[in-house]
Amino acid sequence: MPDRYAVIGNPVAHSKSPQIHAEFAHQTGQDLAYERLLAPTDAFIATANAFRAGGGRGLNVTLPFKGEAFRYAGRLSESARAAQAVNTLKFEGDATVGDNTDGAGLVNDLERNLGRAVAGARVLLLGAGGAARGVIRPLIERQPAQLVIANRTLAKAQLLAQSFRGGIEASAYAALAGRQFDLVVNATSASLTGELPPLPPGVFARGALAYDMMYGMDETPFLAFARAEGTATLADGLGMLVEQAAESFFIWRGVRPDTAPVLKLLRQATA
Ligand code: ATR
Repeated sequence: MPDRYAVIGNPVAHSKSPQIHAEFAHQTGQDLAYERLLAPTDAFIATANAFRAGGGRGLNVTLPFKGEAFRYAGRLSESARAAQAVNTLKFEGDATVGDNTDGAGLVNDLERNLGRAVAGARVLLLGAGGAARGVIRPLIERQPAQLVIANRTLAKAQLLAQSFRGGIEASAYAALAGRQFDLVVNATSASLTGELPPLPPGVFARGALAYDMMYGMDETPFLAFARAEGTATLADGLGMLVEQAAESFFIWRGVRPDTAPVLKLLRQATA
């Protein structure tokens, strides 16, 4: 019997994680099975417990359960603590270890796949929900020149900025007028509903990268706006997806897969 893993979520039918992990397993010669686990929205714990009782060794956790998984884990990594969310569970004997690889996934995608240094860059993060919180710690660790969190509801950005040590600035969108950033990351859920965060024109510095954590659809309104603003480098969140999966795979198996061929495969499939 191969070791069992799964992605748990609701919905989960369209998750690319099974394909990604199957590629990683094949590439590294690891004997594992990876499935989709649809949990009723009110039964995360029961579903996770049943998977574990059936021999499951670990779970990737996706929407809407990352907060519940955080409370479910008996032990938490520093990344999970900072994110207040868990996207990776590892079952070790009786222990349930919760980790969060989303932030590492973003930073690895920026640095390795897109060739962008976060260190020294002026970084603008859009949104102050779970997706934004999940990536702040690894961004700050790289020591950007600035990290500004912009949110429609300014108070949420202020709370989020204060909960991390280290010079994070909170801003309303309108107050960004006249400022420029090298890296603009959309961590709002606006793309899901085809909306554009109310960015003033001119925030993209020359040579800036516009990054949308969303993937798998037509160009998002945010990326279309960046393009219209003359931004040449646009990226969606597919690379982040593959990189966070690789970090989870490493946590479970102690082996680091090569992400480049898997990302290439997924890009070909969505092209
Ligand atoms: P997630 O876990 O995906 O971050 P969330 O916690 O519901 O989801 O947070 C959604 C984020 O997207 C919030 O920062 C929200 O802004 P508000 O806090 O002001 O509501 C942001 N958001 C959603 N739709 C948006 C839009 N059309 N323009 C700008 N920001 C938007």
